[in-house]
Amino acid sequence: MRTGKESVKKLPISDQFIQELKSRTAIEEVISEYVQLKKSGRNYMGLCPFHNEKTPSFSVSPENGFFHCFGCGAGGDAITFIRKIENLDYVEAVNLLAARVGMTVPKDNRDDGMGRLKTRIYEANREAARFYHKQLYAPDGKQALEYLRKRQLTEKTIIHFGLGYSPASRFELVNYLKSKGFSGSEIIAANLANQSKKGNPFDRFSDRVMFPIIDLRGNVIAFGGRIMSDIKPKYLNTSDTPVFNKSRSLFALQFAKNKANGQLILVEGYMDVIALHQAGFENAVATLGTALTNEQAILIKRYCDEVVICYDADEAGQRATERAIGILRPTGLRVKVLTVPNGKDPDEFIKSYGEQGSARFRMLLEKTGNDIEYAISKLRTEFNTDIDAQRVEFFNRVTPVIAGIDNPVERDVYITRLSEELNVEKSAIANLVRKKFRRNESKLRNDEQKRAANELSAINNKMNKEKRFRLRAASAEEALIAVMITNPDIAVKIVERVQPELFPTAFNRSIYEILSQRVKSGREISLEDISGDFSVDEMGSITGIVASHPRENDPAAAAREYIEVLEDENGRLTPKQIEQSEPQDLNEYIKKLRKMKDKR
Ligand code: UTP
Ligand code: MN
Repeated sequence: MRTGKESVKKLPISDQFIQELKSRTAIEEVISEYVQLKKSGRNYMGLCPFHNEKTPSFSVSPENGFFHCFGCGAGGDAITFIRKIENLDYVEAVNLLAARVGMTVPKDNRDDGMGRLKTRIYEANREAARFYHKQLYAPDGKQALEYLRKRQLTEKTIIHFGLGYSPASRFELVNYLKSKGFSGSEIIAANLANQSKKGNPFDRFSDRVMFPIIDLRGNVIAFGGRIMSDIKPKYLNTSDTPVFNKSRSLFALQFAKNKANGQLILVEGYMDVIALHQAGFENAVATLGTALTNEQAILIKRYCDEVVICYDADEAGQRATERAIGILRPTGLRVKVLTVPNGKDPDEFIKSYGEQGSARFRMLLEKTGNDIEYAISKLRTEFNTDIDAQRVEFFNRVTPVIAGIDNPVERDVYITRLSEELNVEKSAIANLVRKKFRRNESKLRNDEQKRAANELSAINNKMNKEKRFRLRAASAEEALIAVMITNPDIAVKIVERVQPELFPTAFNRSIYEILSQRVKSGREISLEDISGDFSVDEMGSITGIVASHPRENDPAAAAREYIEVLEDENGRLTPKQIEQSEPQDLNEYIKKLRKMKDKR
């Protein structure tokens, strides 16, 4: 049931090994390395690392060995968690968890197809990084080395970041990697080469200064390459590959995470990061040529409580700053904004002060205001508050900003300050803020509810496209799957009686097929045991199904009832009719199902 990217023919690691691994792995310990968990009854609760939220809807059950988020529907066992959070495939996740408890995966079945390709890409990238770095000191790389020196990078910095040079000829890297045993298709899969019309690979990066991008485990996952002239694009980056997803990566996070001490500095460019690290600010990271994403914000939240946004002072940079605030704040991070004076970027600023650069930047950092101060002072410059009309407009704009602060004491600080600065009654400002605050509150609550509901149904619809046309059938299918997973003894009987063909929707049918095969061959089907058979998204759907079906008092009777519904539904509609029918209303069907049950 794995498809596409994760296609694997058969389970590569024995059940025995997995069971041993699970028995030695405490899921709450694994997860608490990423999420702050609080004990709540028999479970643990925390803020979901897979979506933005302020109130915890992420639960971990040590007893059952699984996690589930009621907000976004993510869920599964420890292996699924590691796959999702580290963006690994099944075998890689098992390797990581095994290493944690000192177990080794039997060698001959360590890698599946995708795992093997990823390993090859990591290896090719590492070779490429070595090659580029060496070229920097070759005769052809002279100009590049001079370029880096002109930009005042020290030898130590060049080595620390593993900077390099890609030769102008379009074949040197490809030939080099081939001589090291890499195939053309591997080199193309790594996006180190493009494919010519004839199908031959040729170097993607040519005559550029190279910046390797390294993940948190030390793998080279991608490159950025800067041209040394005015040719566009200035920077060329690796496109997404099986090992690289730019919206989940941050440049230099592998260094910065160890130096964060509660705070990360977020800048726009490679050179800004490098200049800051060289000046002693080793907690700087950058996005990779794209706007900040939610995934990156969640990643940042994992390593600090405070972010200082330090984007370019130009118009585009300021727009990006406002956008970034909107993405970072909902994660609960404290956000500060550092504006570099005179339209410079951090790199230029530091350079412009020579030896004083570091001390100067430290001063900026120390007097940096938070995002609220930033927004207020920006509005102050936009409106002339001496003119009545503009003063009114200023208050219209500034009160929602203050109303956005959760902490009442903090709100009061800003209200008092504005009242003094603009000579307006404090109570008048406070009233305006209170009105906006109430509206925010109810809007927030609605938004959150809507978002949670949308996310859940989006996940279900994404995974099971037929569901909205076959709601009654799909609800019965899901209820039956939940009964099976939570009652293994009954599962045996269900499998004897129900053929997969009785399941009208293909998605649930394939889940049932895998479950029933496992049951027939005497293998376990608890959530803990099945994760190797499903993709991460599928596991999310399955734990969602289980979590939204509370244990039945009389599971055997319930199962009979669901089977009857399926028998009733089976063969009702042809695919054509399904296409033409109206989506069914979920609540209606749940109500009907309940009524049917009550009658019994
Ligand atoms: P900037 O244009 O601000 O460049 O792009 P910079 O960082 O100051 O670079 P230098 O100092 O001129 O060398 C900021 C970031 O946007 C991405 C890169 O990550 C860059 O560091 N970018 C920019 C691209 O990916 N492609 C481009 O063509 C330009
Ligand atoms: Mn720059």
